[in-house]
Formats: sequence, structure tokens, C-alpha cells
Amino acid sequence: SRHFIIDCDTAEDDIMSLFMLLRYGISVEGITIVEGNISFDQEVNNALWALEFIGKEIPVYPGSQRPIVKNYRTVENVHGKGGIGDKVVKPSKLKASNKHAVDAIIELADRYAGELEFLAISPLTNLALAYLKDKSLAEKIKKVWIMGGTIYGRGNITPVAEYNIWVDPDAAKVIFSSGMDLTMVAWDLITNYTINAEEWNKIKSMNTKLSSFYIDIYTHYRNYAMTKQKMKGHPHPDLITTAIAIDSSIATKVEKQYVDIENCECLTRGMTVIDYLGIWNKEPNANVVYEINKEKFISMLYNLLAWF
Ligand code: BDR
Ligand code: CA
Repeated sequence: SRHFIIDCDTAEDDIMSLFMLLRYGISVEGITIVEGNISFDQEVNNALWALEFIGKEIPVYPGSQRPIVKNYRTVENVHGKGGIGDKVVKPSKLKASNKHAVDAIIELADRYAGELEFLAISPLTNLALAYLKDKSLAEKIKKVWIMGGTIYGRGNITPVAEYNIWVDPDAAKVIFSSGMDLTMVAWDLITNYTINAEEWNKIKSMNTKLSSFYIDIYTHYRNYAMTKQKMKGHPHPDLITTAIAIDSSIATKVEKQYVDIENCECLTRGMTVIDYLGIWNKEPNANVVYEINKEKFISMLYNLLAWF
């Protein structure tokens, strides 16, 4: 089976992404935690709590607690105080590992050299620090699946920047120039594939343990997306990225392009600058996704929620 690390700033969509990997038989070798959505400690707690819910023991490695250079802010307004709505949860038994995420990434890349895949659904600080410590990671990690950035310059944390890249644009710049095999799933792509009222109600009527859990942890985010972000439903940034990582045929249009990151502390901080015409004559450094098969994605989501 395939070997993955999943890097989380554990809110609702990060949790479902972990569950989808497990549902599809991926060996998740570690969950690394990075600064992002909510307080760092709550992100760790959410990961452990989610493992207890699903009854799996996977090491949780706490990592970087802030971006490499810049300041950032958490987004409890988006995901709720607890990241899964306003409910603040704690694991009852499981504990986080004493090993730092950066060291865990380097060790796992060594153990599964040439096979390890990295699901980057959060700011890129942990992966960048690991690579800065050991640049053989560029050869050892087979693929990096990134939820981040924009393809048309329509962001969520600023008008032009997506949150994960905005939080640590310096880390993103390191990763986009590392030579790793990158696939980028942008915010303004995934907003085209929101969960509409019919799908939401269908999930409600599934009545499995996992579908109730889903409704519970997404309700806050759904309301935020539909009011503040003027969407017709809630989007699945992390989960669509995960579905593509599991089955790349979900991405129906992918372009190999050169992408650079704006890392100034300025109006366009965190913008992903895509040379879509090849004006700079640079080697492409990313597979950029432009279209997905929504039906396939939704059937993977339903299949996940029907699990138990
Ligand atoms: C991304 O930022 C976080 O809020 C989500 O977990 C997702 O990874 C969307 O911009
Ligand atoms: Ca995330």
C-alpha cells in the first residue's frame, strides 16, 4: 500500500482528509501538526480526538508553532473556537509523540525513501524546515499534494491569497523551489465544487455514525461559507486535495507550470504567481489542477461516510 504523511492544522476538513486516506487503505505513517487554523494545542488535541473517534493509533507529531519569518493569525471565525465548530474537544487517552514533526518527516522519508507521499493541507512550515535540515528529502519524497494558493488570484484570507500559503509564504517559496514533485490544488478551483443543499440533506439522511459526525463538524464552516463567502454550499479544500492524491484521475485538467510565491510583507503576500504563458522560460515546478470530476469526488465522499 501507499505510505503517506498528513500535515494538519486540524480543523474539520483536515480530519475528514485523514479519514478518507484510511478509508482508501493508505498507510498513514504519521500525522504532523503545524500552525494554522486554530491554537496549536487545540490542533494537536483535535488530531488525537479524531483518532479516538475512528479507533486508530497513528503517531501525532507536533511541529512548527509559527511561520519561519512572518506573523500569522488563526481563523476561529471560519472554523469555530474548536476548529470543528465552537465545541472544544480533548482526547481521553491518546497522547502526542515527543518527537518533533520535522524529525519525524526526515526519518519517515528515510524509511520509505522513494515511496513516501506528503499530503500538505496546511501551511508548509514543517515540510520546509525538514527540507532545510535535510535536502535529500527532495529525492526521497515521491509526491507532495498541496492544498494551497490560487489559480485566478481569488483568495480567502486576502483578496488574492489563500490561507495556507499566506500563513507561511517563506516556507512555500522554499518548497516550490525545492524540486519536489508538487501538485497544487488551489482555493479558487475548489470553490467551484461546493456541497449543495441536496447533497447536504442526502448526507444528513445517511444516518451512519460518520455522516452524523460530518454534519456535526461542518455545520459552523458551512454557515460561514454561505454567509461570509457568499457560496452556495461549503467547499472541501483539503478533502478534494486528498481525493486527488488517492485517485489522480479526479483531476481532469492539469497543467505543468512554473509557480512562484510572493513572500513580501505587502498587499499581495502569499499570492501564487503562475507563469501561465511561459513568459519567464522557467522549467515547470508544479502540476496545477484546473478542473476536477465532481461526481467522482462526491462518490468518494459518500463512500467514506457510509463506512460506519
Ligand atoms: C485552507 O486553510 C484552512 O482554513 C483549511 O484547513 C484549508 O487547508 C483553506 O484555505
Ligand atoms: Ca488544513
